Amino acid sequence: MVMVSEKPILPPHVKIVEMGPRDGLQNEKQPVSTEVKLELIQRLINAGEKNIEATAFVSPKWVPQMADHHEIMLGLKKLNSDDVMFPVLTPNLKGFEGALAGDAKEVAVFAAASESFSQKNINCSIAESIESFKPVMEAAKENSVLVRGYVSCVLGCPFEGDIAAEKVAEVAKALYDLGCYEISLGDTIGTGTPSKAQAMIKEVAKYVPINHLACHFHDTYGQALANLYACLELGVSTIDSSVAGIGGCPYAPGATGNVATEDVVYMLNGLGIETGIDLDKLVDAGVFISDVLGRKPVSNAANALLSKRAVK
Ligand code: HMG
Ligand code: MG
Repeated sequence: MVMVSEKPILPPHVKIVEMGPRDGLQNEKQPVSTEVKLELIQRLINAGEKNIEATAFVSPKWVPQMADHHEIMLGLKKLNSDDVMFPVLTPNLKGFEGALAGDAKEVAVFAAASESFSQKNINCSIAESIESFKPVMEAAKENSVLVRGYVSCVLGCPFEGDIAAEKVAEVAKALYDLGCYEISLGDTIGTGTPSKAQAMIKEVAKYVPINHLACHFHDTYGQALANLYACLELGVSTIDSSVAGIGGCPYAPGATGNVATEDVVYMLNGLGIETGIDLDKLVDAGVFISDVLGRKPVSNAANALLSKRAVK
């Protein structure tokens, strides 16, 4: 008789890094006020989220949606937010200085595993980007600021197609060696599938310990949850996701939002994996921002739970 394979050992706890206010709102055409962004962040905190990427210190000419970064930092101080980390994107020293002026405790630098995407997104080559992160890393160390590192296009590029896992590993290692405490691996255009995601993680984990890796999967092809499960099986225990599935990347044509936080939390709840997040309150936060954007949440779990509420 053929036996089913042993149950994989899944992590008991997963750290969710909420992307809605940054990756989500950076790609929404409709302007969203600073007040609404801060209200969203407070609702995410109320739902139990402890890591919320709040804004991006990037050029307002490139990404006007994040132009209120200084106001956001001021607003965060007024929120009821004990123990919550608010990482912010800082592509260069200018961005880092802005973040520091706003008392950021955690920032994120972002590189890509694709040359074309690097040029389109931050106007320089991969090697140049790594060079420009060095002064950021030094300044962060001096000021005891944590730095996260992103690698984009880990499972495909909108301009180059397939990207070699070896290239992803090379860029991830460079960021880790620079001092990034966590490397977030971005399937920017959501083309990955589970075995490809596992192969990529296995390659990267040769150079960066698995407990320092995060999965940042956009759900463009509806594969993100399957890919996440495949990566959980390998021991990844940090997941980036976006409330109500909002967002995308302005420099990745066709990219839609990150996997919805509600869908991830529903799956993790079912697997008995703890996140500290209250799914009902999270759904409410998703409805709040979706109402502002004039649509339903892009989350199957959220919409199913809302329908269930409606018939009660
Ligand atoms: P550049 O034009 O090459 O930079 O942009 P520059 O150094 O030549 O400066 C040009 C102008 O930008 C100057 O102003 C600078 O002061 C200003 P001017 O003299 O023309 O008035 N500038 C800045 N302003 C504000 N903040 C800064 C900053 N730096 C320079 N930090 C730069 C280079 C990186 C700034 C630009 O390309 C940029 O802002 N890119 C941002 C792109 C972006 O935000 N993309 C989305 C986020 S990444 C993402 O979504 C992927 C991720 O989610 C993972 C995944 O899904 O894969 C993380
Ligand atoms: Mg992203």
